[in-house]
Amino acid sequence: MAEVIVVDTPEAAGLLVGAHIAREVRAHPRFTLGVATGSTPLPVYQALRAEAAAGTDFTATSAFALDEYVGLPPGHPESYRAVVDREVTVPLGLDPARVHVPDGGIDGIETAGERYETAIAAHGGVDLQLLGIGRTGHLGFNEPGSSFGSRTRVKTLTERTRVDNARFFDSWEDVPIHCVTQGLGTILDARHLVLLAFGESKAEALAAAVEGPLSASMPGSAIQLHPRVTVVVDPGAASLLRFRDYYRWAQDHKPAWQGI
Ligand code: PGA
Repeated sequence: MAEVIVVDTPEAAGLLVGAHIAREVRAHPRFTLGVATGSTPLPVYQALRAEAAAGTDFTATSAFALDEYVGLPPGHPESYRAVVDREVTVPLGLDPARVHVPDGGIDGIETAGERYETAIAAHGGVDLQLLGIGRTGHLGFNEPGSSFGSRTRVKTLTERTRVDNARFFDSWEDVPIHCVTQGLGTILDARHLVLLAFGESKAEALAAAVEGPLSASMPGSAIQLHPRVTVVVDPGAASLLRFRDYYRWAQDHKPAWQGI
């Protein structure tokens, strides 16, 4: 079962996860971080910027993004390549050659998934994958119906996701219809999954992912198949968790040596 940690605020979650990642990077400079986009991971990136300013050296660290929109012009500010560069690569001082994002360009889109899988495998996989969860229950852009065995491929976004992401564009009709996303099987290959969720709007999807039945209709439930998952949430996102008293009890009695 996933370890569930309820903290008071997204900032506290960012500090907890950021401190863990920075410790790992100091111990293993060639650490590979799986980065997510959207609003959820921003507090982690903010904490990592503070760790970089305090002396943690990220120059040997690699990053692999979860997904990318298909068909945005190169350099579009809301392409996930641009978001990752803005939020992670530049502020943390990562070597751009070590930062990988699926290729969402129309030219060669048929092989984009396969090429990304090859790059992850050639690199030796991802050490820690940051994840948000969509209100549809998606991880990456694996919308309901995604196979637990799926690999990186082109997917069609749901209308719900396009509306949720419209805040980054002029209108929801400008949100691309297709994306290239790591599959659930790809995500499950990462050595440690850290799922973050904040606010009551995520409570239903989070409870279904953590405590509900395994189902392709709830892609987030795939985390239950992974041996090492840390779920870090605020009280709003935790509000529908059936066993939240137990999670808090376990947290209060956690042996100090365990870390996250
Ligand atoms: P959000 O999106 O972090 O912007 O809420 C999460 C997701 O869609 O996976």
